[in-house]
Amino acid sequence: MLIAVDGPAASGKGTIARALAAHFHLPHMDTGMLYRAVALNLWRWGGDLGSEFEALRACDVAAVDPDDPEIRSEPISSIASRVSAYPSVRAALLDRQRQFAQQPGGAVLDGRDIGTVVAPAADAKLFVMASAEVRAQRRVRELLERGLPAHYEDVLTDIRARDERDMGREVAPLSQADDAILLDTTDLTADEAIVEAIRLVEARLAATAT
Ligand code: CDP
Repeated sequence: MLIAVDGPAASGKGTIARALAAHFHLPHMDTGMLYRAVALNLWRWGGDLGSEFEALRACDVAAVDPDDPEIRSEPISSIASRVSAYPSVRAALLDRQRQFAQQPGGAVLDGRDIGTVVAPAADAKLFVMASAEVRAQRRVRELLERGLPAHYEDVLTDIRARDERDMGREVAPLSQADDAILLDTTDLTADEAIVEAIRLVEARLAATAT
């Protein structure tokens, strides 16, 4: 069973995708981590963010360390959003995502273009969203909990800028697939969003099984 979870920054898609993976006993890939790893690599090596060629060279990342304290920082989020607009960077990361999606038994992937590009044939697709203000509040809390600096106004500005870049880019922009189910988490706690996501996916699977 293949489940695609897409949505903008801090919409709750990561939490939901992890919970769906645990519920259905499936492996999970946070595809944003791949773009973050490329961003971190480029930044550490002092590469030019404005050069698609240098960003592509930064795709040569053997392993992603999700526990690297910097990988979730705001500067890296912003660089990830910039490098992810380069078509060659997206192409370089596509194979890894498709291979993960096609493994026997299925998988859950979350990102921006899973339902539209990486796994268009997914059995269930969720598009998770929430207001920019609520997403900024969540991200500030998450960053502070991780011991990283965070100021609400800056985070809100960054989230809006990333939304615009992610939705406006030419290749694989953030958009809801025609057959994706919309889940608005603005007024939901994380636990409520998880319960609703499981219900929606189960309903979709039951509907397509008949
Ligand atoms: O956790 P958050 O939603 O803030 O970000 P993320 O999912 O880790 O993704 C970081 C950046 O990578 C996003 O702003 C996107 O520009 C990019 N990304 C993408 O273009 N396509 C994906 N499938 C996943 C992430």
